[in-house]
Amino acid sequence: SKLKGRGVWRYKDLIPGYYKSIISINEGNTPLIKSANINKQLYFKFEGLNPTGSFKDRGMTVAVSSAVSLNYKTVIAASTGNTAASAAAYAARAGIKSFIVLPKGKVALGKLAQSVLYGAIILEVDGSFDVAMEAVMRLYRDLKIVYPLNSFNPWRLEGQKTIAFEIMEDIGVPENVIVPVGNAGNIYAIWKGFNELLKIGIIDKVPRMIGVQAEGASPIANAIIKGKNEPDFIENPDTVATAIRIGRPVNWQKAMKAIKESKGTAIVVSDSEILEAQKTLARKEGIGAEPASAAALAGYFKAINYGIIDKDEKTVLILTGHSLKDPESMAKADTKRILVNPLHIEKIIVGEINGFNS
Ligand code: F0G
Repeated sequence: SKLKGRGVWRYKDLIPGYYKSIISINEGNTPLIKSANINKQLYFKFEGLNPTGSFKDRGMTVAVSSAVSLNYKTVIAASTGNTAASAAAYAARAGIKSFIVLPKGKVALGKLAQSVLYGAIILEVDGSFDVAMEAVMRLYRDLKIVYPLNSFNPWRLEGQKTIAFEIMEDIGVPENVIVPVGNAGNIYAIWKGFNELLKIGIIDKVPRMIGVQAEGASPIANAIIKGKNEPDFIENPDTVATAIRIGRPVNWQKAMKAIKESKGTAIVVSDSEILEAQKTLARKEGIGAEPASAAALAGYFKAINYGIIDKDEKTVLILTGHSLKDPESMAKADTKRILVNPLHIEKIIVGEINGFNS
């Protein structure tokens, strides 16, 4: 049938809903890369290799297919950048109009440029993602002709749960899965995927779901760490990891459920730990991830230091977005840049190799 597919749609029997047509750009089927130089029990699920460079494409193929099947001609999403880029691309492929609502000045350059290229209509608000999100939820209640593509839309999570299916097919069930948490849909989606495999009897346990948040935007992690049942929302969230710069995550209940039911936990990391982890991942593994994704590695190091994870436990980090999304953060890493007279290149290289320069 024409629904037969690869990637996300390979699992169509486990994705509910009725689809008249499938809007796909061959998302999913991302590599699970084994660590070469950090820890042999560590794996990176590189979601940066999706069509628009983030895991959002898995959810977007299902949600936009649903929108089209319901005859919607217009979609909308609030976003810190990646959802916007993905929504814009899938709407373009479907031939429908997309509006995206962004926190002005707080979206990484690569993501903003993608939304421009794919031809979304860009609405910028003075305020954080949370303000943009609230506007979209209000619009969704009042103007039923516009289909919302944020992760309160359950179809998004149905697509994203396929991350769990792919991990299981590659290495079985790891001890831990570490996920950067923003609006808090993805950690729940991945847990849901594992939990469904458990219910069908394909696996006999689910991994511990470990959420990582940035220090300036950590309402859920704070609540988990303090043993509270509800987060205190953060009015002015801030972090270098702009993807997860969110103070009032709409899916907080789902995320806390995933963490609690899987006997997982949450970890808070600082901006400097995030940038250091981004560099470590690039320089020890050759993998470029955006800061929010590098937060997972920062969280892994912290979890090992705290004794939350043993270094012999099989652990998967969800690298949610590609480094190219945020060129400015990449360029912050320190390295040598030397203005050279071309005639002196040989001398400089020999000096570098022998450690004579500097
Ligand atoms: N990592 C990246 C790269 C993201 O873009 C996001 C979310 C997350 C992690 C967190 O996932 O929200 O499901 O907890 N980005 C959204 C966006 C908010 O608008 O692109 P989550």
